Amino acid sequence: MQARSAILGIGHYVPSRVVTNADLAKLMTTSDEWIVQRSGIRERRFIEHSGIGASDLALPAAKMALEHAGLDAKDVDAIIFATLSPDHNFPGSGCFLGHKMGLPGVPALDVRNQCSGFLYGLSVADAWVRAGVYERILLVGAEVHSTGIELADRGRDVAVLFGDGAGAAVIGRATNDAQGIKAIRLHADGSGARDLWLEAPASAYDPRLTHEMLDEGKHFPAMNGKQVFRWATEKMPEVVREVLAEANVDVGAIDLFVPHQANLRINQMVGQKLGIPEEKTVKNIEKYGNTTAATIPLGLSEAWREGRCDRGSNVLFAAFGSGYTWGGAVVTL
Ligand SMILES: CC(C)(COP(=O)(O)OP(=O)(O)OC[C@H]1O[C@@H](n2cnc3c(N)ncnc32)[C@H](O)[C@@H]1OP(=O)(O)O)[C@@H](O)C(=O)NCCC(=O)NCCS
Repeated sequence: MQARSAILGIGHYVPSRVVTNADLAKLMTTSDEWIVQRSGIRERRFIEHSGIGASDLALPAAKMALEHAGLDAKDVDAIIFATLSPDHNFPGSGCFLGHKMGLPGVPALDVRNQCSGFLYGLSVADAWVRAGVYERILLVGAEVHSTGIELADRGRDVAVLFGDGAGAAVIGRATNDAQGIKAIRLHADGSGARDLWLEAPASAYDPRLTHEMLDEGKHFPAMNGKQVFRWATEKMPEVVREVLAEANVDVGAIDLFVPHQANLRINQMVGQKLGIPEEKTVKNIEKYGNTTAATIPLGLSEAWREGRCDRGSNVLFAAFGSGYTWGGAVVTL
């Protein structure tokens, strides 16, 4: 019989430096009131000093996930690293993480699917386990946004939304019949690629980055917020309905909903459309902002440790982000 995959362990890590909305208001024209009303965010974490990359945040999250799974680093057969803020342009952050974990020879794949990165990685890990290619996969989502956003008036629409953090999961064979990844659905639509993107450095330009581009801020993310909002509130419920149908699970049987945390208003609208009560929904955006690929594993890890889910719980994931990319998954822990 084909192996089924499961989440064997989960972990997270956030840097210690808390940056409040009031702190940001010292750097740009914004206010706590504007940020809370529009997004629900009250504070976020930033790395303590420069020199800390996505793989550095991933390392403690990975150790926590391995410990939760009762495994050691040497048990990892493959690494999947989802990030839009890799330590360096290349090689992938998975290579840096594998080296820091002392795993020479272990394959490392980077996934570039932004806020949906963890779910894209989960799909690859699930397929690898089911096909018998690798047995235990370390799947990480980690982001250092704070060094890549424009902390000034020009970048304020994006800068107030994002924070640094990491989450990690160990994906391996299910150990009982109930447990496992029941269904995953992924989507992308590049017609919205420029609605949320970081334009340069770019292989489409020669040279990839000029002083003019730096002056224009093309190395900072740019976003059409209203358009992203519209798409997210439509596509997240749509993909959840698809994945619940594929898993043959009723929405009422979901014990915990872990949506991507981009905007509290988006998640409230998604929850209402689906009929999922707030008490079953993870909400940590007020503490961390949007941590992109880290958000889903970070949310699950915290919820698990708070006792909001346990082995046997039915968990629903949903994400939407740059690309556009979006996805959903149903997992029994
Ligand atoms: C970004 C977002 C919070 C903006 O909320 P909004 O209600 O659409 O706000 P608007 O764009 O109408 O902006 C209103 C005003 O606030 C200003 N503004 C933008 N950022 C600001 C900030 N940080 N502080 C204060 N004012 C700000 C705008 O310039 C605009 O001013 P104007 O009316 O004089 O032009 C919202 O569109 C959103 O959350 N979109 C989705 C973003 C997202 O999910 N991104 C990640 C996807 S993974």
